[in-house]
Amino acid sequence: MNFLPLIESKREGKILAPEQIQEFIREFTAGKIPDYQMSAMLMAVYFRGLDTAETTALTLAMRDSGDVLKFPHDARPLVDKHSTGGIGDKVSLPLAPLLACLGFRVPMISGRGLGITGGTLDKLDSIPGFQTLLPAAQIVAQVQQVGCVICGQTDKMVPADKKIYALRDASGTVPSIPLITASILSKKLAESLDALILDVKSGGAAFMQTKADARKLAKAMVALGNECGTNTRAILTDMNTPLGRAAGNWLEVKESVECLENKGPADLRELVIDSAAHLLVQTKKSKTLAAARKLAEACLNSGEPRRKWDEMIAAQGADLKAFSQKLTLNSTAKVLAEVKSPKAGFVSKCNARVIGEVIRDIGGGRLTKESAINFDVGVDQIAKPGERVEKSGTLCRIHAADAAQANAAAIRLKTAFEISPKHPTKILPLVVEIILR
Ligand code: URA
Repeated sequence: MNFLPLIESKREGKILAPEQIQEFIREFTAGKIPDYQMSAMLMAVYFRGLDTAETTALTLAMRDSGDVLKFPHDARPLVDKHSTGGIGDKVSLPLAPLLACLGFRVPMISGRGLGITGGTLDKLDSIPGFQTLLPAAQIVAQVQQVGCVICGQTDKMVPADKKIYALRDASGTVPSIPLITASILSKKLAESLDALILDVKSGGAAFMQTKADARKLAKAMVALGNECGTNTRAILTDMNTPLGRAAGNWLEVKESVECLENKGPADLRELVIDSAAHLLVQTKKSKTLAAARKLAEACLNSGEPRRKWDEMIAAQGADLKAFSQKLTLNSTAKVLAEVKSPKAGFVSKCNARVIGEVIRDIGGGRLTKESAINFDVGVDQIAKPGERVEKSGTLCRIHAADAAQANAAAIRLKTAFEISPKHPTKILPLVVEIILR
């Protein structure tokens, strides 16, 4: 195809026809359009945007660039959740088995972390023996049999997104709402879902820094998901403070298991219950959000999702004995140190961005796609806004690879906390808004 006139049209702010978008995605995926031309198109889209029809055409063309998961007919609805990511965001881990126990099928295709944001697959890689790369047939078989799977995208799923995302990363075109919408939803739609709940975060440690930008992205994704036949909702949540009390790959798996055992932090439990409750309403399994929350809570309290977790990880190769043993350890890192409060008072700020940057820099995250990860490093026992601390009381603990690293991290982590003499009057709510359309 002659791609140049399409680049020029978009550069001039003209609307592209769905067939033109389908054709250039097909040709690009087949290697028939060079990267420099696609980069120029992405920059034109970055500045000129795409309207709803163009974004829909792009999303569906990207979804159809590879395999779409096909499931046998079954009364259990197919559901999933996507989060735009944040520090300590481990909701997917307890949520998948909870949803399976609530009578859903959950083909949760997840990603890896880059920069300060952790990735679900990196967290799961800290479980002895666990396999994240499964062929499509095994994904479908496990979803049918166990009810849930959490794994990576196969090579054959949504190849257009993989190629386009690499170009966006290198050409400064990642922060474009239509491109983000198409990228996220093409992957979710390739799971053939009945319903999808999106957790769009805003704040200092989020992809979207402001609530207004998060709302814009959420509205675009909700409209497009529904337009493409998947019942889609979004919750806007705060990401100025870390979620839960632990951040770092293994520490987050440990906290997820605590959540499944009803011993986890309240904010994590709230988001897990809320995400499940929305999906219950979206699929008409519950009439109201209040009734759905009760159902999800009762299910979590029953202990059944904790057993389902073991069933899911065992199906993906985990060594349950080694896993249980690892859970009993206070720390799996070489050095464990405490960050102590310089004075008594109330925590008025706990800066998620600083905590995320420290964890990335001590090896828990990636500076580049090729970086190796240390699963054992991280931060736990994080004191949260509104909590009382005594002088020399614990603000958080650092799990590090050596003493020098722990000392350097402690100096930076101290700056993440602010202590006030009085209880802070304004604590940001976790769930800021629900976007229904
Ligand atoms: N996550 C994605 O999968 N794609 C984007 O474009 C941004 C975040």
